[in-house]
Amino acid sequence: MSPTPRTPPPSGADATTPYGTLAASTPPLRKPVSLPRLAEMHARGEKIAMLTAYDATFAAAADAAGVECLLVGDSLGMVCQGLPSTVGVSLDTMRYHTESVARGLRRVQGTAWLVADLPFGSYHASREQALHSAAALMQAGAHMVKLEGGGWTTDTVRFLVERGIPVCAHLGLTPQTVYALGGYRVQGKGDEAAARLKQEAHALQDAGAAMLVLEMVPAVLAAELTAELTHCATIGIGAGRGTAGQVLVLHDLLGVGLGKMPKFVRNFMADAPGITQAMQAYVRAVKDGSFPDDQRHAW
Ligand code: KIV
Repeated sequence: MSPTPRTPPPSGADATTPYGTLAASTPPLRKPVSLPRLAEMHARGEKIAMLTAYDATFAAAADAAGVECLLVGDSLGMVCQGLPSTVGVSLDTMRYHTESVARGLRRVQGTAWLVADLPFGSYHASREQALHSAAALMQAGAHMVKLEGGGWTTDTVRFLVERGIPVCAHLGLTPQTVYALGGYRVQGKGDEAAARLKQEAHALQDAGAAMLVLEMVPAVLAAELTAELTHCATIGIGAGRGTAGQVLVLHDLLGVGLGKMPKFVRNFMADAPGITQAMQAYVRAVKDGSFPDDQRHAW
């Protein structure tokens, strides 16, 4: 019996991707964002725009809108999976979403720098466990991994950086330890807490962290730290306008959420005709320093 002839795909269509919603590859308009390019931006005071992404299509849209860094945040536990916190997110889930985002970027020849969160429990046991988990995310397409906390994490950061894995640290409100912190509250308030946070941030920079997310810390403290950390770009979320860059959760930027929006969020869809324009407005506002507004979005 002769084999059934295969129907050729319609001309121009990609047989493997019936939902051709992503633009065909075009020559990229900007050079790929890299560690040296981010360091240059930091050095010349150009603000860095970071946004979370969890899937291929939104990753491609954010890249086209000019977002420089995409974060596959473990916030996906809350916004995609409906979990009460990020604590329940697994390494396999992070790998799945990192692969999806990386694929989306590849399909449009995206140039954004891709950061992926090491989830709760995936780097706490030992430096070797952290390396194993970080390798899984790098092999899924990440360019950098992010981990939360200071003090005990410093050794882990050095261990990863020495092995060629770029690391973004995360201080202030660290959602993976929300139960230990007693809720989603501003951190680093008062002289003692501020001094401790500064000391941890300097140690992380010395260990080789190239970026540091500062979440829900007083704007004055974040601005001081930003001026002090010359080799580590601070990325703020609820930390005022004085940081080297800003990050928002995609769903917050789009004004869709399951609960109350935190004070540091601005809904960029409110004044935009579409998602791409909302993302572009976010990038513009980060770059020109109009977002965040310290009076409205910070402490
Ligand atoms: O998981 C996440 O989205 C984050 C950002 C809030 C910084 O860590």
